[in-house]
Amino acid sequence: MRIYKAKDYKDMSRKAANIISAQVISKPDSILGLATGSTPIGTYDQLVEWYNKGDIDFSEVTTVNLDEYKGLERTNDQSYYYFMHKHLFDRVNIRQERTFIPNGMNMNAEEECARYQKLIDDLGGIDLQLLGLGHNGHIGFNEPGEALEKDVHCVDLTENTIEANRRFFDSIDDVPRQAYTMGIKSIMHAKKILVVVSGEDKADILKESFFGKVTSKVPASILQLHPYVTLVADEAALSKCEGL
Ligand code: GLP
Repeated sequence: MRIYKAKDYKDMSRKAANIISAQVISKPDSILGLATGSTPIGTYDQLVEWYNKGDIDFSEVTTVNLDEYKGLERTNDQSYYYFMHKHLFDRVNIRQERTFIPNGMNMNAEEECARYQKLIDDLGGIDLQLLGLGHNGHIGFNEPGEALEKDVHCVDLTENTIEANRRFFDSIDDVPRQAYTMGIKSIMHAKKILVVVSGEDKADILKESFFGKVTSKVPASILQLHPYVTLVADEAALSKCEGL
């Protein structure tokens, strides 16, 4: 694992964007696995800035997102569809038909999971997967539990995650209880993985995830077994990792 220590959020975002940019420049038709959450927003902003300067071209890129809430319309400003369009897709020259996100409005979970899994499989593998880190160690929406799901699945979000997402909704009752998420297999099959982590509130879980035991109780810990992971974290997030 490579670890890049960033001074702060802005520096983390710039370093992460540099890695994504290098991927797209060296392989213009890259398949990027993308993430939502507050952490990658600065990374997307930086990519847009470089796009506007003419330094990066998304015209041949394909993207496949990790997850989506079940039951939220695309037009809901908390849907991941809305998020991705707002922060990246509508701001760069990516072909919209090459951007993929689970369809949260397909209430038939079995059908939607099978469709999205096939789509990922047909793409033939992700070149670079961007990940954030949940406070309980989740990646995508792979929540802690007795076992990790391999394929796309419908998850019941944990209380911890519902609570963490509450700030984005008017009331706790509006926070979706379920989501569709890419499974651990597709994440682990990505050729390269880039994890972005910021803030002191993530310091404990970062340490557990990357330096603790590999366990399904901390889903991100499985990333320790991937041959090509780059962690870009700011000083606050790395503050519990002695010697870094
Ligand atoms: C959500 C997303 C994850 C993300 C996590 C952390 O649960 N499904 O992909 O990593 O939030 O979000 P944040 O970056 O806002 O802490």
